[in-house]
Amino acid sequence: MIGKRMSEALNNQINAEVWSAFLYLSMSLAATEMCWRGAAHWFRKQHEEEMRHAFKIIDYMEDQSVHVAMRPIAEFPTHWDSLLAMFEEALAQEEKVTGMIHALCDLASTEHDHATAVFLHWFVTEQVEEEDSVKAIIERMRLVRDDYTALFFQDVELGERV
Ligand code: FEO
Repeated sequence: MIGKRMSEALNNQINAEVWSAFLYLSMSLAATEMCWRGAAHWFRKQHEEEMRHAFKIIDYMEDQSVHVAMRPIAEFPTHWDSLLAMFEEALAQEEKVTGMIHALCDLASTEHDHATAVFLHWFVTEQVEEEDSVKAIIERMRLVRDDYTALFFQDVELGERV
């Protein structure tokens, strides 16, 4: 049984996941315009992943017979000065989402909502992976800075994401 506070918080999380998805789609479009085709592909894959996260919560709420509320998506950025700036913003977004997931875990514990607590474990682990993969990309980009040959090869690698 999911309480009112938890269902509200899960609906907020769906909105945050969809917002993330739109942010990454926006980054994908911007990367294409900057001729970073590999990064554009990477961000599109990230968009799909965020939508999967949203659907995972939707499916869970439906399984628990909880009303799922569609909410408006707030405005998202559409311009970045560099690829590095995009990935830095991606990391900031992932860190924010991690905080939200941890707050949901705290709420599940306070409400003695054991089913939701177990459900959220997957997201806790997922956030560790998400932050780590973006951090690794940023570290390499900071190492090569304005070396466009090195950036080109990194872009090719980003394009290989499955
Ligand atoms: Fe759904 Fe990247 O957090």
